Amino acid sequence: MKTAEILKKEKLTKEDLLYLMNIEDPEDLNLIYKKAYEIKEREIGKKVFYRGLIEFSNNCIKDCNYCGIRRSSKGVDRFFMEKNDVLESAKWIYENNYGSLVLQSGERQDEEFTLFVEEVVKEIKQLSNGELGITLSLGEQSRETYKRWFDAGAHRYLLRVETSNEELYKRIHPQDGKHNFENRIRSLKDLRDIGYQVGTGVMIGLPGQSNEDLVEDILFYEKMDVDMIGMGPYIISDETPMGEEYRGSVISKEKRVSLGLKMIALSRLYLKDINIAATTALQGLDPLGREKGLKAGANVLMPVTTKDEYRAKYQLYNDKPCIDDTAEQCKGCLAGRVKSVGDEIAYGEWGDSPHYFKRKNKL
Ligand code: 5AD
Repeated sequence: MKTAEILKKEKLTKEDLLYLMNIEDPEDLNLIYKKAYEIKEREIGKKVFYRGLIEFSNNCIKDCNYCGIRRSSKGVDRFFMEKNDVLESAKWIYENNYGSLVLQSGERQDEEFTLFVEEVVKEIKQLSNGELGITLSLGEQSRETYKRWFDAGAHRYLLRVETSNEELYKRIHPQDGKHNFENRIRSLKDLRDIGYQVGTGVMIGLPGQSNEDLVEDILFYEKMDVDMIGMGPYIISDETPMGEEYRGSVISKEKRVSLGLKMIALSRLYLKDINIAATTALQGLDPLGREKGLKAGANVLMPVTTKDEYRAKYQLYNDKPCIDDTAEQCKGCLAGRVKSVGDEIAYGEWGDSPHYFKRKNKL
């Protein structure tokens, strides 16, 4: 009863969000998802935007305690794709009319890397006659680097805050001076200043994370006035400090999926006009995770288009799905999934969020 009352409100309070975040009753959960889907339909339409994902390198200077490609992971077969391989994937994305792509890799901050990305961005713009939208997801960089990549033609940047709880952030990152919360926030602000559409997100179901933390994460998205959100459940990665410490003691898969879906739905209910991705990690825990994400209010999918020989090497966590599929197979598979939800793929569109356009018009 109370759930239905809360869902009638146009603007939820923090207390409302916490009440909804604590719900576990399946019928009430369905009410939340249904309402979130209605808001997505009202604000964006029954549409799904695609971003072809190219994971071009798993080299990383960071050592995040949860991540399978952290610098100290010894068992990782490191790779850095040739420029032509990246461009070939980009061409595939263009020819298949995905409208937009994401370049993602482990973090590097050296000039060779900066220049590589700058050139690749320029060449992707050229090969697509300026038509492909380019999102970068390449970690913390200096303001100058962000600016160079923006000037080269990238217009969106995804940098997860991982958790907005600074204490928790400290626990999941090594305290070696290279992983600090303030620098993450500084980066997000620089990106916005420079003119990017900015996305952030968190991991859900981290050991020690409370439902209140997750509500604070949604308030953080609001405070940072972000245009897009990419978040997903935490999944154990064996060869990591957190994998070793928490194997067997992380909350159940079902709970993490349910929390992930609630985060999508509540972010949609609270922020309304932003882009929200249904991420691969959701599917990693539930074969129907991404469909459920769309049903709970997400409107973006990131089909993996990384070339076959590299897919299995970009393993941030155990049992990453789709690593044996080709880009072609992913395309067909996802089209079926989107149709089953009743949404339509917005082929050929950049798919910027309505939030971005409203923000721009206010400037
Ligand atoms: N489980 C879930 N997500 C993870 N990421 C890294 N490791 C894991 C994991 N074990 C996410 C982080 C990072 C993004 C690239 O992948 O949120 O920002």
